[in-house]
Amino acid sequence: MKDKICVVTGANSGIGKVTARELAKRGAQVVMLCRNEEKAERAKEDILRVCGHSRVDIVLVDLASTQQIHSAAERINENYPKVDMLVNNAGLITNNTRSTTDDGFEMTFGVNHLAPFLLTQLLLNKVLATDRGNIINVSSEAHRFASFDLTDLQYEKRKYNGLKAYCSSKLCNILFTRELSQRLPSHVVSNALHPGAVASNFGGGVSSFFGIAMQLARPFMISEEKGAETSIYLATSEEGFTATGRYFSEKKAVSPNKEASSSYNAKRLWEISEALLNIQFLTQQMATP
Ligand SMILES: NC(=O)c1ccc[n+]([C@@H]2O[C@H](COP(=O)([O-])OP(=O)(O)OC[C@H]3O[C@@H](n4cnc5c(N)ncnc54)[C@H](OP(=O)(O)O)[C@@H]3O)[C@@H](O)[C@H]2O)c1
Repeated sequence: MKDKICVVTGANSGIGKVTARELAKRGAQVVMLCRNEEKAERAKEDILRVCGHSRVDIVLVDLASTQQIHSAAERINENYPKVDMLVNNAGLITNNTRSTTDDGFEMTFGVNHLAPFLLTQLLLNKVLATDRGNIINVSSEAHRFASFDLTDLQYEKRKYNGLKAYCSSKLCNILFTRELSQRLPSHVVSNALHPGAVASNFGGGVSSFFGIAMQLARPFMISEEKGAETSIYLATSEEGFTATGRYFSEKKAVSPNKEASSSYNAKRLWEISEALLNIQFLTQQMATP
């Protein structure tokens, strides 16, 4: 992977850090997109200690701000000739009190879905500039528990529940991947994945039932190394560059639930996301060779 440039979001901890480290160890230049400078620097030092080269960079971004996403993408577009791989890994779950991003989007939908949607759009020309591009979206089996409602993606009408919002955002990751794969030209693929139940920091600050359940389940969960395996598989295997629009778990393509397999849902979510972000992104015409 020596000539590859890989952008990984949420690369300062958990699955994202292991993914960034393993890609760097294989020789790739890694751009770590992180929101906390101190944590990012510490993670970078850890990666540099083992990767055998110095091509590891940090770009700071809070994915809860479209303005910061624009600035981060601008930095990448200015400083790198191409992006071979974009791993949309960062994600969060909130408490049961509805909160919003800088732009007023419901936090979980904003960070887990709209942010990767926007980032992908802003970096797309750099991905298209590669011989073989790869966009990997870290979703979750939690999508199966979503009460998915395209008319209330931001929980404005329903009683807010952090876990439900999370499940819905992870379903969005699969729908986004599905629609994206159909609009991309054939030299760029996109797949989604479930990393497993991973003993990372995920949900650490959440005091709801989910947070407590995560703490109790920790001894039975898999390591961050194991949790990053499917991301790394998609980033490095031949199947990761030939399969597209699929959802993987344990390094195998599996079927997501019915709502995540719906072309109607995928197209509608795309249109809604474009409208919310006021962007136009890979129109059908552009994708046609
Ligand atoms: N752990 C599991 O069991 C599990 C299961 C299924 C799916 N997943 C998915 O796996 C992905 C990685 O999670 P993980 O388990 O590795 O958890 P983690 O250790 O908590 O990592 C999450 C990463 O996302 C970053 N992040 C969160 N909000 C952000 C924001 N507003 N702007 C920029 N970065 C932000 C975090 O940055 P900070 O360190 O600054 O907070 C952190 O680097 C997530 O998408 C999650 O949904 C995890």
